Amino acid sequence: EQYQVAIVGATGAVGQKIAEKLVERNFPYSHIKLLASSRSAGQTAKVGGHTYTIEEAKPEAFDGVDFAFFSAGGDVSRKLAKEAAARGAVVIDNTSAFRMDPDTPLVVPEVNPQALHEHNGIIANPNCSTIQMVCVLEPLRQKAGLKKVIVSTYQAVSGSGAAAIDELTKESHALGLSEPSPQVLPVKSQPKHYPIAGNLLPQIDVFEENGFTFEEMKMMNETKKIMSLPDLSIAATCVRVPVVTGHSESVYLETEQELSLQEIRDVLTAAEGVVLQDDPTAQVYPMPLYATDEDPVFVGRIRKDPVEKTGIHLWIVADNLLKGAALNSIQIAEKMIAQKEVSS
Ligand code: A2P
Repeated sequence: EQYQVAIVGATGAVGQKIAEKLVERNFPYSHIKLLASSRSAGQTAKVGGHTYTIEEAKPEAFDGVDFAFFSAGGDVSRKLAKEAAARGAVVIDNTSAFRMDPDTPLVVPEVNPQALHEHNGIIANPNCSTIQMVCVLEPLRQKAGLKKVIVSTYQAVSGSGAAAIDELTKESHALGLSEPSPQVLPVKSQPKHYPIAGNLLPQIDVFEENGFTFEEMKMMNETKKIMSLPDLSIAATCVRVPVVTGHSESVYLETEQELSLQEIRDVLTAAEGVVLQDDPTAQVYPMPLYATDEDPVFVGRIRKDPVEKTGIHLWIVADNLLKGAALNSIQIAEKMIAQKEVSS
């Protein structure tokens, strides 16, 4: 069977990866529509050796589309996702617009594929930092239960889009030469901007009333929803680091039952989509530079807490544009096809 596919935000950091991955994975598409803002309409882009003309994303563009991958920001999704779904497309939305909507499944195929059984035309792709973390938490939860999670993230600038990558590149070249004049990070729409080269930004997205940022709240709320653990004790601190691609996370978790180090390693070795990179004697551990362009979630630096018997420390790294975004979105579509949840 062949499917008509649309990519909304096709010129963006994630949209381009979606196009690449559809080709690389031999996704059964008959045609791809590249959609973006009116600024890009009329330009061309090559996908799988075929040249497509970029069109403006508007409701009529979704006529006949089976899968619509949205990655053009929450406002575009809020405006167009329902229009696309009403025209019969299955929308797989990379933004936060529908993630916490109780009628919208929030899916990581390795963790909660069953959530795809009930949807209203829109499936939400979780936040990039959440996806890589739950891929590791879920197999441990299945083995020993899960009581508590404390996570600190080290997030790459590509999570903030193509403009943020440019900003890091320009600032890096200018390091020590002149005063940078940042305009994008940490949050484009807010009044203050700080350099990211040679710096860390302990703010990703806007602050909420409770002092956590929206990014931190996304990790906390989305993890509870994906894992169906509404009462999980979880807290996050999210930090932007001067890395182009690859989010890293230092995670402390407590299971219900105690696991030995060997049991933890066995569970994670067997976990779908997860690759163990943990050999301190040989200096083997995950790093964002080496996770870039790779599909798996890498985990290493596994330690038992020195005091708390059920406490585990680990380090998780994944390509935020792939498993954190484009790849997970396509895996959702592939899972729906495999589970016969969509017809062409
Ligand atoms: P465009 O290039 O035409 O502005 P990134 O996350 O890398 O910043 O990319 C954002 C993506 O969202 C781009 O493809 C961008 O297209 C697209 N986009 C931004 N605003 C709109 C809009 N109003 N309608 C459709 N696509 C949009």
